[in-house]
Amino acid sequence: MNTPLRYASSMEIAEEDDVETTAGLIETMQKITAITTRDYGRGVRSVHAKCHGLLIGKMTVIDGLPPHLAQGLFARAGAYDVVLRISTIPGDILDDNVSTPRGMAVKVIGVDGERLAGSAGDVTQDFVMVNGPAFLKSNAKDFLGSAKLLAATTDKGKGLKKAFSTIARGTEKLLESVGGQSGTLIAMGGQAETNVLGETYYSQAPVLYGDYVCKIGLFPVSPSLTALTKAPVDLKDKPDGLRGAVIDHFAAHAGEWELRVQLCTDLETMPIEDASVVWPEETSPYVAVARIMVAPQSAWNSTRQAALDEGLSFSPWHGIAAHRPLGSIMRVRKAVYETMAAERMKTNGKPGGEPVSLASLGVD
Ligand code: HEM
Repeated sequence: MNTPLRYASSMEIAEEDDVETTAGLIETMQKITAITTRDYGRGVRSVHAKCHGLLIGKMTVIDGLPPHLAQGLFARAGAYDVVLRISTIPGDILDDNVSTPRGMAVKVIGVDGERLAGSAGDVTQDFVMVNGPAFLKSNAKDFLGSAKLLAATTDKGKGLKKAFSTIARGTEKLLESVGGQSGTLIAMGGQAETNVLGETYYSQAPVLYGDYVCKIGLFPVSPSLTALTKAPVDLKDKPDGLRGAVIDHFAAHAGEWELRVQLCTDLETMPIEDASVVWPEETSPYVAVARIMVAPQSAWNSTRQAALDEGLSFSPWHGIAAHRPLGSIMRVRKAVYETMAAERMKTNGKPGGEPVSLASLGVD
């Protein structure tokens, strides 16, 4: 691997219209929740509304990491409680036959260190990821256009999304067979109907890694999970079949993932401000820094739903200063997640806020 670049403030270039774009994104997300709150009679996330599993596990930082990897949360060996929330992208709760990209949010509890702005006094570090190595759009301004389109299809677009999903999946299979994958088609419903537990999840946008800069990924490593990579799930007449598959798996089996980081070694090919670029793994491979173990458990029940799905929010801005999110997409996420999570908590009469321990969540 090439030498990792040390972070310098010149790597980040704030856009003049960040404030306006952030306001536009918040307004767009609020349009989505206005419709879904009316439809469901409760507040759900404006994106990643549908949850397919709520898991509790342990994260162990790998002992003896070399200095460039022993950074931030990973500076010392240690074990932490973690909560995992698995989701799919849309803001409406759709039949799983509308197959869209998947999200994985990880909350590490009990973390020390100087906190990020807006996260003071908390002890959590979140990693919020999707099953693709790069974001759909380069920057926040470009993304605002797609977000508006998504908002316009909320509710009334259900039939449309379902029909498109079927077509897009067919096209995606065709593309894959000739060796290509289309991010746009996948995002709009062309995601293959595979088990969410076999996926690899990525931060897509970069974060500070102590003295360095990285993207983060969660890779399934235990045979129990890798057997599910690209494994089809039967969704016929099963609108919640993806969640069913997660429940069935953890009723009997454990799962182990590696949290890996990809350090930035070259700003040309690994830009900070353009989240749509896949950083080349040939020059900088993802390297393991921690393991997440999940024992057999009830991956979904009403207690977990109330405490972890409705009661929690996840954001890349919940964390320590050593892992400050970087670049255009990451900057605007701060205010958008804060505002939308606060509104959701208020709608549902939940206190919100970050857990101080796993025990404080009242789940087992
Ligand atoms: C400008 C870009 C983005 C915007 C405006 C945005 C907005 C949001 C909002 C408003 C929520 C719901 C917050 C809540 O109610 O608690 C959310 C959740 C989520 N986002 Fe983003 N997002 C963006 C980019 C990304 C990226 C780059 C990823 C990952 C690679 C991502 C992954 C997720 C996931 C997994 C969740 C669900 C978290 C959970 O389980 O609670 N988002 N996003």
